Amino acid sequence: MTTTVITGANRGIGLEFVRRCIDRGDTVIAGCRNPSDANDLASLAPAQILQVDVGDQASINEFADFIEEDVHLVINNAGTSATNLGLERGLAGVLHAPVDLTLDLIRINGLSAASVTRSLLHRLTEGSKVVNITSQIGSMVVGAKFDDLPYATSKAVMNMVTVQLATQLRERGITVVAFHPGWVRTDMGGSQADISVEESAGGILSAAEQLRLEDSGSFLRWDGTVHPW
Ligand SMILES: NC(=O)c1ccc[n+]([C@@H]2O[C@H](COP(=O)([O-])OP(=O)(O)OC[C@H]3O[C@@H](n4cnc5c(N)ncnc54)[C@H](OP(=O)(O)O)[C@@H]3O)[C@@H](O)[C@H]2O)c1
Repeated sequence: MTTTVITGANRGIGLEFVRRCIDRGDTVIAGCRNPSDANDLASLAPAQILQVDVGDQASINEFADFIEEDVHLVINNAGTSATNLGLERGLAGVLHAPVDLTLDLIRINGLSAASVTRSLLHRLTEGSKVVNITSQIGSMVVGAKFDDLPYATSKAVMNMVTVQLATQLRERGITVVAFHPGWVRTDMGGSQADISVEESAGGILSAAEQLRLEDSGSFLRWDGTVHPW
């Protein structure tokens, strides 16, 4: 029996991860900021719905305290954008973006993958996998052309967290990878995006099933192909 922990589970790609993991028989522990408003999530009836704000260490610690079983898969999916934190779109570029807001986004989108994984370390066993939902915009290649400093740096940090966790956890037999989910039709991706949540989450889960320890530290696309750093 696989126990899967998913953050940002109440909508978008995270909700689709929950649906698919339940369908394939996983015990799903779903984290979200506001469980009382998470009606779509509740309708899927995961084993547990727990409150977690991944930008808040105390909230992460409390979330982890409620998890009392071995965890086989962690999906660090929760994420947001500079505009969601209140920044005007035209002010997100490297010549304008406020440093404090950029640091807030780095904490939520980047460092949270380290904080959540650390908080669950005592529940991870040999063979466990950690899947970090990053973005191609966190790559030096793609991010260079994207005029949004907070989002690009936050996902670049998540990428660094991924490779460092992979190094530190290899001896314990834990695989850690980063996935670019594609440009996905969600509140974040918008209605004009390329692919559906079904294609994105379905692709990531199939690719994650095939992962072996030798793959730890990889940056992959939702379809399992390798993404350049
Ligand atoms: N959609 C795309 O095209 C795309 C492309 C590349 C990468 N991604 C990444 O994929 C992941 C999922 O994105 P999505 O498209 O599904 O976005 P979404 O529809 O906007 O959903 C984002 C999810 O993250 C949660 N979240 C935001 N801030 C949080 C916090 N501080 N603590 C806990 N949960 C928080 C949201 O919860 P609330 O409902 O409480 O806000 C929501 O559940 C994100 O990491 C995103 O950066 C998406």
